[in-house]
This record gives sequence, structure tokens and C-alpha cells, in this order.
Amino acid sequence: MIIITTKDGSHSLFSEEYDEIYHSQNGAIQESRHVFIHSGFEHVLQQFTAANPLKIFEVGFGTGLNALLTVIAAQNQGVNIYYETIERYPVPIDVIKELNYTQLLENEKYRPPFHSMHLSTWNIEHSIKPSFSFKKNEDDMLSFLPSPNTFHLIYFDAFAPENQPEMWTIEVIKKLYDALVTNGILVSYCSKSAFRKVLKEAGFAVEKLPGPPGKREMVRALKP
Ligand SMILES: C[S@@+](CC[C@H](N)C(=O)[O-])C[C@H]1O[C@@H](n2cnc3c(N)ncnc32)[C@H](O)[C@@H]1O
Repeated sequence: MIIITTKDGSHSLFSEEYDEIYHSQNGAIQESRHVFIHSGFEHVLQQFTAANPLKIFEVGFGTGLNALLTVIAAQNQGVNIYYETIERYPVPIDVIKELNYTQLLENEKYRPPFHSMHLSTWNIEHSIKPSFSFKKNEDDMLSFLPSPNTFHLIYFDAFAPENQPEMWTIEVIKKLYDALVTNGILVSYCSKSAFRKVLKEAGFAVEKLPGPPGKREMVRALKP
């Protein structure tokens, strides 16, 4: 894994195995904020005002950027969160410590929870902050079964379909559909028509939204 700097100044990683960058080259923080926080988190907050905690499942923990931005957004909104994620190839902690996310966000205030998430034991629920419970599964999404009818929001942040087609199949998407509560949503940076077709086949109502800078569209899918 090689650390690279994207156009908004935030770091990302390059995976040699998948020949892919973990985030958009146009800006890692910019993309994560747009796709997962603005189009996902803020949207479900309006729908599930009474959810306590709001439950989020992420596919692909990676650098932990989406989780960090969720800690910050949840703090700003004053909501309690249960955040569960899965990662098959954990990023080594010495690489994580080089990433510049907490320097760029809120004057390092969130360095302790960011590192706590990365240093927490796998497969056990932890309290990262009193209002933020966190569990990371070291597992393979192809065989993992998230708890059914549990989550309000899913961040689907797998490597792109052309590099990792096995993650974008009806088998995986149906498990995620089943993991959502009614009116729960899944967001993804990918808006390819083949992916939208799989989402519809699983039962989702699919919406195309404007993408982050440099990307025309993204997808938000609702479990009716
Ligand atoms: C696009 S990156 C995710 C970026 C991450 N959300 C972040 O903010 O850094 C895709 C992630 O999925 C992970 N991954 C790849 N195959 C997987 C699998 N079969 N099960 C679980 N995670 C997988 C990769 O290791 C990588 O961390």
C-alpha cells in the first residue's frame, strides 16, 4: 500500500493488488463527505429522527476515513451511533499513523477516536466515545452475513466493479438489502447501469444523484 495525496490535499492509499486508489484522486475527504456523509448520513438522519442509536454498516473499512467523518458528523448533530464495518485486508497501523486526515479535520481533535477505531480489537464492539459504538469485523464480505433487518444506512465502499466484480453481485447486494430496516438506504460512489440493475433486482428503489467533483453521478438506493 502506497500513500498518495489527492487533489484536496487529503491522503489516500494505492492498492497494488487491486491496482486501485481507495478514494477519488479529485479529493478523498471531498468524495467521502459528498457520497457517504451528505448523501447518506444526513439523509437518513431526516428519516430516522427517533433512531437511537442510528445503525450504520460499512463495506470496506480501509483507512477509516468514512468512519472518522461519521464520528465528526454525529458529534455535530448530537446523535448516537452504532457503526459496524468489515475489512478483509486491514491497513497496517504504521500506515494509518502517516495519514493526514485528523490534521486536516478539526485541529487534531479527532485523532484519539480515529486511532482508537484502528487499534480496537477486531470482532468485538467498543465504545469509541459515549455516543459512538464501533465494531470492525475482520472478514470476507463474500461469506459474511450482516445482521438482518438491523441497519438504517449502508456505506457500500468496495473497490470498483472492474477491479473487484465479485463484490457487486446480486448475492452480496441481497445480503445488504436484508441487513437494512424498511426505508433504510445504501449509498455508493458507483452509478454504473449494471450495478443499478443488480440493486433493482435485489428489491431496491434506485436514485441517481450528482456525484462529487470529477464524477457525474452516484447512487442512493432505498429499501421500500
Ligand atoms: C475503496 S476501499 C475502501 C475505502 C474505505 N472505506 C476508506 O475510507 O478508506 C475498499 C476496501 O474494501 C476492502 N475489501 C476488499 N475486498 C474485501 C472483501 N472481500 N471483504 C471485505 N473487505 C474487502 C479493501 O481492503 C479496501 O479497504
